Amino acid sequence: MAGSKLIRGGMIVTSTDLYAGEIMIKDGRIEAIGKRLEAGEAEVVDASGCYVFPGGIDPHTHLDMPFGGTVTADNFESGTRAAAYGGTTTIIDFCLTSKGQSLEEALRIWQAKAEGQAVIDYGFHLMIASLGDEVLQELPRMIEEEGITSLKVFMAYKNVFQADDGTLYRTLVEAKRLGALVMVHAENGDVIDQLIREALAAGHTDPIYHALTRPSAIEGEATGRAALLTGLADSQLYVVHVTCAEAVQRIAEARSQGLSVWGETCPQYLVLDQSSLEQPDFEGAKYVWSPPLREQWHQEALWDGLRSGQLQTIGSDHCSFNFKGQKELGRGDFSKIPNGGPSIEDRFTILYSEGVAKGRISLNQFVDLVSTRSAKLFGLFPRKGTIAVGSDADLVIFDPSVTRELSAATHHMNVDYNPYEGMVVMGQPISVLSRGEFVIRDLTFVGRTGAGQFLKRSRFSGGEAVMEPEKRQTSARANT
Ligand code: URP
Ligand code: ZN
Ligand code: ZN
Repeated sequence: MAGSKLIRGGMIVTSTDLYAGEIMIKDGRIEAIGKRLEAGEAEVVDASGCYVFPGGIDPHTHLDMPFGGTVTADNFESGTRAAAYGGTTTIIDFCLTSKGQSLEEALRIWQAKAEGQAVIDYGFHLMIASLGDEVLQELPRMIEEEGITSLKVFMAYKNVFQADDGTLYRTLVEAKRLGALVMVHAENGDVIDQLIREALAAGHTDPIYHALTRPSAIEGEATGRAALLTGLADSQLYVVHVTCAEAVQRIAEARSQGLSVWGETCPQYLVLDQSSLEQPDFEGAKYVWSPPLREQWHQEALWDGLRSGQLQTIGSDHCSFNFKGQKELGRGDFSKIPNGGPSIEDRFTILYSEGVAKGRISLNQFVDLVSTRSAKLFGLFPRKGTIAVGSDADLVIFDPSVTRELSAATHHMNVDYNPYEGMVVMGQPISVLSRGEFVIRDLTFVGRTGAGQFLKRSRFSGGEAVMEPEKRQTSARANT
């Protein structure tokens, strides 16, 4: 059990508040928040000059994942350690499934990857490859008993992960009935497949053709299609890794019609652009994500979406592959470059630096985007995602005055390049606590492999803070 701690001298920031205060931690939870709290036996932690944020929640990671003929460079140990260095105390990773495989089996495989490895808490989203009878029968148990309350459908990666529209629609219907949130990778996989064939037939093999064969219009089209099906099913949808103006527009339209449609973007789409894929000597492969990096002007649409609330979360989509030996699999054929890149460590600080420090978003919006809204959408609030009495003591002591350069030479991700190499950022997580224990202390890892716990999450509650009916009854009884 974690020893008591008193965090003193910092500015506490939540998605709604900003004040100087002290936090008393006991048994892994926040016991009290106030001023001039009595330290007693508690260890006093000095947070002077720092913000104290709720631990970051990264709703989109791929650790220890087989993809593109190889396996991601980061596993649950290295990936979660890097996440903690970067101010993230909870991740939700994607449990892959395949057609014909039982959900039970897929979950056991993913549990085995994470258990005894993760240094911070973690949950899983469950991929839906197809909806056969067995999967339909298993779904209620996955959601109600295993607490896996979000389902993922790929509209792209034809012949690998892609599901058809019928499967997406039926998943939306089941999710509504059972209380889960459906997540989509929204790109038109059939059209992309055709464009890739045409490009290769014309001898276009360089990394830039990855971007040119996945135009933003078809991300917009798929986003609009998924939103339309969500309306038909009267269900709920979360669009992962939104990259472009067209997709933001479709999400905004759906929301203006009252649909429960939510959008996530990622640091790479906010600060990098398509020109990186043109780097010589195949270096452009380092910047191959799907959907791809876009022309720079799309960044403004993404920032506008975050500022105005049309996009609500920041995921890292961390899916790291080494340049040497992994990205290189696509030399001579861009379609064989493993898709994805490393961002788990830099997600939090990039959003602070490019968002708050550059005046694009407020401190409260920052907390909502990197932590609170994901907790609300994915059934973790108020245990995670805020600083409140009774919440887990997942905290980040963040020094906003530090200026530093992001680099593979100093990062903690198990990958041989950093897509943000040389980028100067403001701010650094100095110390990070998970359930009241230091994971990072004064920039040094002091956590424990396997200390992270699997999180059973509550059912989808509309993306806001609501109490589940059974808990409401208990609290009503307690009040009489
Ligand atoms: O390129 C990406 N995004 N790789 C990870 C898999 C996915 O589509 O999220
Ligand atoms: Zn994706
Ligand atoms: Zn992803």
